Amino acid sequence: MANLRPFVAFLFGYLCFTTNSISRCNGESNVRCIQSERLALLKLKAGLKDPHHLLSSWTGAYCCEWTGVSCDNKTGHVIAIDLRCQHLYDDPSTDWHLGGEIGSSLLDLKHLKYLDLSSNNFGGRSIPQYIGSMTGLRYLNLSNAAFSGRIPHQLGNLSNLEYLDLNSFYSLYDLNADGIQWLSNLSSLRYLDMTWVTLAKASDWFHAVNALPSLSVLHLPFCRLSNIPAAISHVNLSSLATLDLSNNEFDSRLPEWLFNISSLVELNLQFNHFHGSIPDAFGSMASLEVLQLGINDFVGLVPSTIKYLCNLRILDLSSNKIDGEMMVFPEIFSGCVRESLEVLNLRSNELRGKLAGWLGLLERLTILDLSENLLYGPIPASIGELSALKTIFLDHNQLNGTLPVSIGQLQNLKKITS
Ligand SMILES: *[C@@H]1O[C@H](CO)[C@@H](O)[C@H](O)[C@H]1NC(C)=O
Ligand SMILES: *[C@@H]1O[C@H](CO)[C@@H](O)[C@H](O)[C@H]1NC(C)=O
Ligand SMILES: *[C@@H]1O[C@H](CO)[C@@H](O)[C@H](O)[C@H]1NC(C)=O
Ligand SMILES: *[C@@H]1O[C@H](CO)[C@@H](O)[C@H](O)[C@H]1NC(C)=O
Ligand SMILES: *[C@@H]1O[C@H](CO)[C@@H](O)[C@H](O)[C@H]1NC(C)=O
Ligand SMILES: *[C@@H]1O[C@H](CO)[C@@H](O)[C@H](O)[C@H]1NC(C)=O
Ligand SMILES: *[C@@H]1O[C@H](CO)[C@@H](O)[C@H](O)[C@H]1NC(C)=O
Repeated sequence: MANLRPFVAFLFGYLCFTTNSISRCNGESNVRCIQSERLALLKLKAGLKDPHHLLSSWTGAYCCEWTGVSCDNKTGHVIAIDLRCQHLYDDPSTDWHLGGEIGSSLLDLKHLKYLDLSSNNFGGRSIPQYIGSMTGLRYLNLSNAAFSGRIPHQLGNLSNLEYLDLNSFYSLYDLNADGIQWLSNLSSLRYLDMTWVTLAKASDWFHAVNALPSLSVLHLPFCRLSNIPAAISHVNLSSLATLDLSNNEFDSRLPEWLFNISSLVELNLQFNHFHGSIPDAFGSMASLEVLQLGINDFVGLVPSTIKYLCNLRILDLSSNKIDGEMMVFPEIFSGCVRESLEVLNLRSNELRGKLAGWLGLLERLTILDLSENLLYGPIPASIGELSALKTIFLDHNQLNGTLPVSIGQLQNLKKITS
């Protein structure tokens, strides 16, 4: 959530939060409420189901002091509503969730910038179309709130929106979209999460997303996406740092334009059917910290250009058909990647050879999984140099000999299988 911090800090500059956790405005503020906005909030409350009386403070004249309501302390306008359900892990016998109807009286809050209704239970209702008319919104969080049906394309009118969270991972209902061309209208968007929103028919998804030059975080796992364009004329995504397309149905080679997104810090493509070899071009993605390509159909070698990734912390190529001799590994780990790598997962591939000559080079390694390969020979004494190592999996290979005494030096080691 590092990307949210500037925005939240920015909000705090203007607002006094009135949630449970942060006490209300500093005493001097004389912001109490604008009457018409108070009425709009009361209408909203009247439509909502609130079995646990979370909105019991929503009474009296001073609406800026109500739970979850924040006003601009200069103008007195309501600028934020935060009704995120905070009780996920509390006593499950109590129904803490808000539900019911989200009334259109919200439209009377003309200065609203921030709306969070996440983790509530709207019982399979559709997302109200009129949310698309709340054009002052910069932050909209409807994640895991049990909405279902088609996402209204009217959301495309929210041209000031910077954060849109429709994550439905924990929802029992199907939220979907036939096309998401409307997204391309959200030119201020920095953060988009549509985890577990069915986009099987949204064949335009990439072009919609590629029109968003400020996009920094994109989460589209479990969306039943299957097509990714092999070639495009121009990649617009020059701010993209996090790209999660895992758990989809992609069945192609990695497109070349992917390697033009040099801002990428985290790339997760695991659990698809991507095939072909892992391109050398990864070596040019100097910002990469996390590269997850596991559970695909990649073949060929681990590209030696990985050695240039001086920020790479996590490399997961597990459950592919990567083969070749470990002889290339001393070469790979002669590069600066050896100083950054913390997790190396090559489980369940077809790698052959010995561990000697490279294992001791990975000075920051905490997790090593080389199980289910074709490795043979002894476990080298250099394993004793991996002082950060916590977990090592070497099972289902043909390693032999005894564990080297040096393994006794590994003070953090908790688990080893061989
Ligand atoms: C509004 O509140 C913020 C944070 O509490 C404070 O720094 C600022 O001075 C206040 N502005 C006015 C006009 O009261
Ligand atoms: C939306 O709310 C959920 C909790 O309900 C939170 O985990 C998530 O980070 C929020 N999204 C954004 C963009 O702030
Ligand atoms: C919102 O966008 C739709 C197109 O998706 C358009 O037809 C409609 O007029 C817009 N509504 C408002 C209030 O701007
Ligand atoms: C795009 O946004 C403009 C306002 O900025 C609006 O007039 C138009 O209807 C929107 N289009 C879609 C498809 O939402
Ligand atoms: C890239 O973004 C700009 C600005 O939003 C837009 O005008 C252009 O059409 C986009 N290019 C593509 C290929 O979507
Ligand atoms: C990728 O980058 C290269 C070199 O900068 C450029 O020539 C090419 O047009 C870019 N491709 C796309 C699809 O943006
Ligand atoms: C390990 O296996 C190799 C054959 O792969 C064999 O030559 C060697 O003697 C074995 N070493 C030990 C210690 O069992």
